[in-house]
Amino acid sequence: MNRRTLNLRALPVPHPMTRADRVPAQRYYDSEFYAAENELLWPRVWQMACFLAEIPHPGDYITYNILDKAVVVVRGDDGSVRAFHNACRHRGVELVRGRGNLRSGFICPFHGWCYGLDGVNTFVYQPDLFEESNRRPEDLNLVPCRVETWGGSAFINFDPNARPLHDCLKTAARYCDPMKVEGLWPEWWLSCRLPTNWKLAMDAFMEGYHVMQTHPQLFPSGASRQVYRDVSESVASMERLSAQLAVGHVKKVDPRMFVDQQLHMMRSVSVGMAGLIHEKDVRIAEGLRNIELPDDFGGAIAGWTRALHDAILTWNSNQGIDMPDLHAVDAQGLTGITFCFPNYFLLPYLSSGAAYRVRPLGPEECLFEIWSLTRYPPGEAPPAPLEPEPMLADDPRWSLIPSQDFSNLPSQQRGLHADGFEYMRLSDRIEGMIGNYQRLIDGYLAGLPHEHLVAAMQQVCGHTECESRDIGF
Ligand code: FES
Ligand SMILES: [Fe+2]
Repeated sequence: MNRRTLNLRALPVPHPMTRADRVPAQRYYDSEFYAAENELLWPRVWQMACFLAEIPHPGDYITYNILDKAVVVVRGDDGSVRAFHNACRHRGVELVRGRGNLRSGFICPFHGWCYGLDGVNTFVYQPDLFEESNRRPEDLNLVPCRVETWGGSAFINFDPNARPLHDCLKTAARYCDPMKVEGLWPEWWLSCRLPTNWKLAMDAFMEGYHVMQTHPQLFPSGASRQVYRDVSESVASMERLSAQLAVGHVKKVDPRMFVDQQLHMMRSVSVGMAGLIHEKDVRIAEGLRNIELPDDFGGAIAGWTRALHDAILTWNSNQGIDMPDLHAVDAQGLTGITFCFPNYFLLPYLSSGAAYRVRPLGPEECLFEIWSLTRYPPGEAPPAPLEPEPMLADDPRWSLIPSQDFSNLPSQQRGLHADGFEYMRLSDRIEGMIGNYQRLIDGYLAGLPHEHLVAAMQQVCGHTECESRDIGF
């Protein structure tokens, strides 16, 4: 099948995807499209509501807000995780806000009605004041919301008929489970209020094509030619070098410079993100600086990777920290940024990692959240970080890599409004995920049955840098 002409049939939605590699600009600002998402997408999808690390003890709760809805996720006496719509059954006051612990249940701040951690109403002040049909016990319990757990997080879904979480995130789990993402614990949490549509913020993290121009510090200038000795003069950029590496044109490397470049890349990402590649892993890698490696590219990369994985596994094992088998994960090609439709990313890497979540705040505004994740010895994890006050895109406190990404986004949102800019044109080879998930959104907006949506989800979830795929509609 020709990838460029996949899925030409337009779905009955505003500004539909008629080609997998073209995204109509209006999908990023049109109020009709935004309203359709709010009505037909968000109420039907699994959404990462919190890390389980935020609610480790009975009575711990967090509130999760999406659009005009609020859900409270709570750890019960029996250790199970439940979710309820955050509204008192009397006159609708929100029972809780933010995060906290209510070991003996919820007490409404307005007239004092009480609810157990299982949502059961336990107290109505002066019940005789209410007509009997307004105080039927079965009618007074908190309204439950679906909640399921995976990968160290609780996910909620407003749709009682949605397929189970695991069916939806099966592909993401195939990548993340071998990395034991459930053992990754949030270390810090930051958020940004971006003046862009929520999808635009996601797109910026779905391809590595922008790295050369947006994050040039990740590639020291001139280093690639020195490291890879038989690279032709025509290789002026890391990107072209990557292409030559991929087709096997580059065979000889200088092992010393190769190691220096690996360390440079790890340090640049670690400092630039203040995480993702954890400073623990960078320190361990620095200890391998004098490692002997062969001078052929394949041998050097294999030798370096094996030594680094060994050293990280040994360090963590000495600390009593449970780690994934990095060798096996690497051998299966499972490392990478994993997308969980519609708005969550997990980036397990070496011992640690990161997570992103994006939520709409309006047609042209969103909340972008970043967590740094790492592993701790049993019983030694610190309390999970508190929900941060959102910063602006140009806040000087952002570390280099997110500030570089955020600097493009407001300008891109403005550019989308330009006369004559009808659609984004995507590379169907490396920007495919953007077109894939946009078409899955169309599936939701068209009201397709869950069986079609779940099948499409298997094509859409997974590693971010991928080709345009046939998602079935
Ligand atoms: S609104 Fe909650 S007790 Fe009245
Ligand atoms: Fe980036």
